[in-house]
Amino acid sequence: MAIPSIQSAILLSFLVLFLGPYLQTAKLCSCSDDHKVSNCHFIERLALLDFKKGVEDPSNRLSSWRLDNEDCCKWHGVGCNNVTGYVKELDLNNIKDMAQATILSGGISPALAQLKHLKYLDLGGNAFHSIPDQFIGSVKELRYLDLSRNFFEGKIPQQLGNLSHLHHLDLSYNRFSIQELQFLSHLTSLEYLDLSGSDLSKTGESLQYINRLHSLSELHLSNCQLSSFPLMTNFTTTLSVLDLNDNYFGGFFFKAILNFTTLQSLDLSWNEIHGPIPRAIEQMTSLKTLHLKMNDLTGPIPDVLANLTSLECLDLEDNHLEGPIPLSFGALCKLKELSLSGNNISGEIAEFVNDISLCRPNSLLETLDLEQTKLTGNIPYSIGNLKSLRSLYLRETSMNGAIPKSLGQLSELEVLDLSLNAWDGELTEDHFANLANLIGLYIGFEEKPPKPLFFNLGSNWVCPFTKLSDLDLTNCQLGPHFPSWLRNLNRLDIIVLENIGISDKIPNWFPKIYPSLQILDLSNNQISGKLPLELRNGLKSTKMILLNLRDNLFSGTIPLNINETMPNLVFLSLSNNLIEGSIPSSICNLKQLIVVSLSSNNLSGELPQECWKDPQYLQVIDLSNNHLSGKVPISIWSAPQLSILSLSKNGFSGNLPPILKTLGPLRVIDIGENSFSGNLPMWMGKRLPHLEILRLRSNSFSGFIHEHHCLLHSLRILDLAHNGLSGTIPHCFGNFSGMATVDPTNPFSIYPMVINSHEFVDRVNVWITKGIELEYNGTLAFLKCIDLSHNAFFGEIPTEITGLMGISILNLSMNQLTGRIPEKIGSMQRLEVLDLSRNQLSGSIPPSISALNYLSHLNLSNNNLSGRIPSGNQLKTLPDPSIYAGNPGLCGAPLKDCAPHPDIHGLNHEEDKETICHFS
Ligand SMILES: *[C@@H]1O[C@H](CO)[C@@H](O)[C@H](O)[C@H]1NC(C)=O
Ligand SMILES: *[C@@H]1O[C@H](CO)[C@@H](O)[C@H](O)[C@H]1NC(C)=O
Ligand SMILES: *[C@@H]1O[C@H](CO)[C@@H](O)[C@H](O)[C@H]1NC(C)=O
Ligand SMILES: *[C@@H]1O[C@H](CO)[C@@H](O)[C@H](O)[C@H]1NC(C)=O
Ligand SMILES: *[C@@H]1O[C@H](CO)[C@@H](O)[C@H](O)[C@H]1NC(C)=O
Ligand SMILES: *[C@@H]1O[C@H](CO)[C@@H](O)[C@H](O)[C@H]1NC(C)=O
Ligand SMILES: *[C@@H]1O[C@H](CO)[C@@H](O)[C@H](O)[C@H]1NC(C)=O
Repeated sequence: MAIPSIQSAILLSFLVLFLGPYLQTAKLCSCSDDHKVSNCHFIERLALLDFKKGVEDPSNRLSSWRLDNEDCCKWHGVGCNNVTGYVKELDLNNIKDMAQATILSGGISPALAQLKHLKYLDLGGNAFHSIPDQFIGSVKELRYLDLSRNFFEGKIPQQLGNLSHLHHLDLSYNRFSIQELQFLSHLTSLEYLDLSGSDLSKTGESLQYINRLHSLSELHLSNCQLSSFPLMTNFTTTLSVLDLNDNYFGGFFFKAILNFTTLQSLDLSWNEIHGPIPRAIEQMTSLKTLHLKMNDLTGPIPDVLANLTSLECLDLEDNHLEGPIPLSFGALCKLKELSLSGNNISGEIAEFVNDISLCRPNSLLETLDLEQTKLTGNIPYSIGNLKSLRSLYLRETSMNGAIPKSLGQLSELEVLDLSLNAWDGELTEDHFANLANLIGLYIGFEEKPPKPLFFNLGSNWVCPFTKLSDLDLTNCQLGPHFPSWLRNLNRLDIIVLENIGISDKIPNWFPKIYPSLQILDLSNNQISGKLPLELRNGLKSTKMILLNLRDNLFSGTIPLNINETMPNLVFLSLSNNLIEGSIPSSICNLKQLIVVSLSSNNLSGELPQECWKDPQYLQVIDLSNNHLSGKVPISIWSAPQLSILSLSKNGFSGNLPPILKTLGPLRVIDIGENSFSGNLPMWMGKRLPHLEILRLRSNSFSGFIHEHHCLLHSLRILDLAHNGLSGTIPHCFGNFSGMATVDPTNPFSIYPMVINSHEFVDRVNVWITKGIELEYNGTLAFLKCIDLSHNAFFGEIPTEITGLMGISILNLSMNQLTGRIPEKIGSMQRLEVLDLSRNQLSGSIPPSISALNYLSHLNLSNNNLSGRIPSGNQLKTLPDPSIYAGNPGLCGAPLKDCAPHPDIHGLNHEEDKETICHFS
């Protein structure tokens, strides 16, 4: 329990009085110890202990701070003057202290005011919230003060203005409310000032105080909501670092800054700067670092940037620059980092790379980031001469060709990202020969190219990059054997080997050597054998967040302890394998799940009670196409964030429970092909406003479609076929506005998920019947359809249905519908499938039907239709007479010719004439 500060101050003076003699003894003792002055004054030790009392220290960072550990100068973070023994330094920065990065929190005890000789105080990166005025007021010798990245709040302590010796002041990223900056007026020695992350937009004229800091050499005001700044002409000689990242300065200010010709580092990223980079930038000849990313810079990259011969880092990422990399850039021999990614720059990189590789004694380039550009051509062989290169990002450009073997010479290379390009040829052992420092290797393709990039590696190849932690080779060709070189890479955190052509058994050594695995994606291969998580000594990683093994030949059962071996799984897909047995309750106990997909296996039995009760974020459940049965637990129907629920093609039974009412976010319910029964609940319309797909096909639902169901405005796929539904089709079907548009503005996404910059898509299976069965996947994302076939609907087809112009499948067959086919059926321009067979429809076939240009499947058989079959372009491609069979009154091609008598039931006057014309 922390003692309130006033009491503790009293306690402290009491202790000093009471223990004064002891203090002296202590001093005497150490004096006699070979002229070494005491390393810790007792009163300071008590002050530090008092500070510790007010601090929460869950990780015991301050464990050395104990009364019985007398030499407080040796305590963690404490430094003393080696002559006087007074504490001169307190460094509890949590960011520098990464070794035991753990946060201290609480208030700062006023007892610290005892440390009168403190020169250096660094509390950065913790969670302290208050600092007493009297403490700041008493440490007058302070030269270095870093309170950055804590939760300090309220006004800046006034006494800060008295610390006239301060050289370094960092108050960045706290919750101070800063209305004015007068406290800076006496801090005339300040060389370093950082107020980043504070809202300075209300400081007005007092910003001028910054101008008076004549010794200032480094100024950081990033993320300060500033849009203007009085010109700091007084600094033109001292200021060397100016960081104004993430404000609203704009282009005018940028031009003014160009006069600061002594600046060595300038950061104006995220500042809404529009237009071209001014050529006058050539006068800033001292610049070593220039950050202009995330602005709206346009036009070409000016060649005069190459006049800045001291330039070490040039970051123009995410602007709208275009044209080639200037030829002159090859002369920037001091360049360590060049980032032009996310621009429209074009042309080839060959000349730049050739030139810079000629720098003597050698190129210093460490980072070359050209990803997401329009660069073309191939990677030049000379890239192998950039011996300092550590990161090469060429993701998502328009480059192509063979990847040069010289890449294998880049022995410092840590990150190689060549993904999403059109490389061809092969990669051999030479390509990797000296890449001993590689940490990330990414060569994935979006789709498997016709001639995939082939990894031609010997079966006994020992790969040199044993430190690799991140590997993504999606859609390359590595198979058919499981790559044995993975065996040397026991530091892998991320393995993405989707669709790389393996058809092999999973090796025994595979899973167990990766203790820190976070992502494993082996999907879409033909890997067989037991699930790697089931193997003895199998996969076991508390860091595992994504496991995707879908579309393979894995067998075995889901382990009973998956919640213990991989407790933090977020994404689990085992779909389309040969997994059997029941779904164990362990899988229901994965509390972090967002996506769980077990479809198309041989799973059987009932679902555990309370399954997936806990995961707060569960959004996708796909158990379709198994042999599961029994009631679906309420916990599944009521997962609060559920968006996609697919249970189709199983043997589940029961009703749609009222709890479903609470599921606002649901977008897909597919429970088709089960044994569900009961009515279609009325609340569905109101309670599920986001529902896009409702598929209840092939169950035993009964009752009616109610007008309330027409409130499902977002619906795109309504499949109620093969049930026992009855009643009429409501006129309000015309209200399904989601089906009325041809091109949805918001096409249904198939749940992409980005984890650590890898994108994972889980296909959800929705089987749409269109004569053939289709898996609902990317290509069907735009599909819209209504299927009410095989029920007992009666009455007329509501004419409003013809307003649903985006529909491509309309199947109303096998009901008891009467009346005529709506006249305007031809306005449903997208129709590919129209099946009205096996009803009692009468009258003639509307001529507009011949306007359906996409129609490929028509069935009007077994009704009471009559008259002449309309002729038309598209109808001519459907010559099969059976589609009109069972309508004794129909005539014309492809059926028998119409009789020349104009008295056939249902023929209207026009058709009469046509018939007559035809036969005249
Ligand atoms: C004492 O500190 C000074 C300055 O920090 C240093 O130069 C000197 O070497 C130190 N002396 C001893 C004995 O550690
Ligand atoms: C300390 O600061 C306060 C308020 O800014 C001021 O009134 C006082 O004179 C200062 N004291 C010294 C010693 O500078
Ligand atoms: C700039 O420096 C001059 C001379 O040191 C001084 O008189 C002037 O007040 C300063 N300007 C600002 C804005 O502080
Ligand atoms: C920059 O310097 C030039 C020449 O010294 C001067 O004419 C111009 O006014 C200055 N621009 C600004 C914005 O201070
Ligand atoms: C910039 O470099 C070019 C070519 O090297 C040179 O002609 C020009 O004079 C330089 N400009 C300045 C301001 O130094
Ligand atoms: C894992 O699941 C099993 C089966 O439901 C359960 O008995 C066990 O307590 C769970 N373990 C943890 C750590 O949640
Ligand atoms: C989607 O389904 C169609 C039809 O079955 C198939 O041709 C296509 O390859 C599938 N697309 C994907 C991405 O699986």
